[in-house]
Amino acid sequence: MNTLLKVAQPLTLPGGAVIKNRFFKSAMSEAMADRSNSPNHLHIELYRKWAEGGTGIVVTGNVMVDRGALGEPGNVAIEDRRNMEQLQQWAQAGTQFGTHLWMQINHPGKQSPRTMSKQPVAPSAIPMGGSYGRAFKAPRELANAEVKAIVKRFVTTARIAKEAGFTGVQIHGAHGYLVNQFLSPADNRRTDEYGGSRENRMRFLIEIYDGMRGALGADFPIGLKLNSSDFKEGGFTEQDSLAVVEKMAKRGIDLIEISGGNYENPKMSADDDSEVFFLKYAERIRSLVDVPIVVTGGFRSQAGMEEALTADNTTMIGIARPLALVPDIPNRILEGRYDTVNTQRLTTGFPSLDRRLGAMIGLSYYEQQMKRIAQGKPVKLHTNGWDPLLHTLREQGIAAFMPRRSN
Ligand SMILES: Cc1cc2nc3c(=O)[nH]c(=O)nc-3n(C[C@H](O)[C@H](O)[C@H](O)COP(=O)(O)O)c2cc1C
Repeated sequence: MNTLLKVAQPLTLPGGAVIKNRFFKSAMSEAMADRSNSPNHLHIELYRKWAEGGTGIVVTGNVMVDRGALGEPGNVAIEDRRNMEQLQQWAQAGTQFGTHLWMQINHPGKQSPRTMSKQPVAPSAIPMGGSYGRAFKAPRELANAEVKAIVKRFVTTARIAKEAGFTGVQIHGAHGYLVNQFLSPADNRRTDEYGGSRENRMRFLIEIYDGMRGALGADFPIGLKLNSSDFKEGGFTEQDSLAVVEKMAKRGIDLIEISGGNYENPKMSADDDSEVFFLKYAERIRSLVDVPIVVTGGFRSQAGMEEALTADNTTMIGIARPLALVPDIPNRILEGRYDTVNTQRLTTGFPSLDRRLGAMIGLSYYEQQMKRIAQGKPVKLHTNGWDPLLHTLREQGIAAFMPRRSN
């Protein structure tokens, strides 16, 4: 093993947890749960493979806090202890070889498609905009007591994750979901203590974090995924984002993962392999706080990863799609046998179809590969969009053609 590489260096988080290297597998929704939204043997086998692959921190796909509020078909939802046995097996498989397995915890808010929610909830009754807006029903504004109840749900899910053996949790504060909606002035026009000033817009996130910290203890890793900006007029700006980072660092967050964009203005993934979109923003954070930062999006080459760590632009290397194609990238790099994994755009051969279904085809392709890994089958490396399209149609029916996320 090449222990001289920057990616091979261990890391101690603010709360004291030690991470064996700088590889961070970012959340990818597995879309593998059945209608009961329970984890199953596929989750266990997929995360066994990722743990065997050498990653320091593996984050699960987003786990929902409420079965009645899902972001997409196949989400895992954890509201109570009914799935404790499967969760324990999942945690056990995913923490082998000293791997940290963190559960990403989420509520979609208004970003729950009309096929999944008759009436989604949100900080304010502002419908989704953008070209995908029609796929979502207009939301209802959450009552003050309901906001507090959702905070409790986040804490409950985190408590169950710890009890089951997960070694950390990550609050999903990015990509236009509920925490992001509270933070964004474009989505949050509330007049109670959860809206208005930046301080108030942050309150939902802070209460979730404080609740989790109280329930999980000072040394249990709690991370946050945050947009660098919403890239939209009147939305969550880079200034807002930096203010959240500063506040959360002061409160003792263990790690902040930086991403960007949402449904209405996708910015969190690149179709070409341009290395890393958020490094500039990360640089700004690095001069502000010394909380560990994970930049995710676009890391493909070993040289790109080493450079980012050497320049101290990021503390860990966030990788999503390439790990759904090659689950042991870290071991390959550490053992000196890695070839860059490309994530090329898939195509149906019809540009107009690609334009309309491109994001969905991309998601389906990676979901399909994750399922193949879980089943012990080899991944299919190709750029033909029809294969994932038909796979998803078979698995999820016509509902799959509704936009879910743009990441
Ligand atoms: C199939 C798929 C599912 C994803 N699910 C999630 C998710 O549940 N939570 C999340 O924060 N990001 C999710 N993402 C976004 C990734 O974590 C990551 O931010 C994005 O893919 C960019 O990183 P990459 O260029 O290394 O793929 C998903 C991405 C893909 C491709």
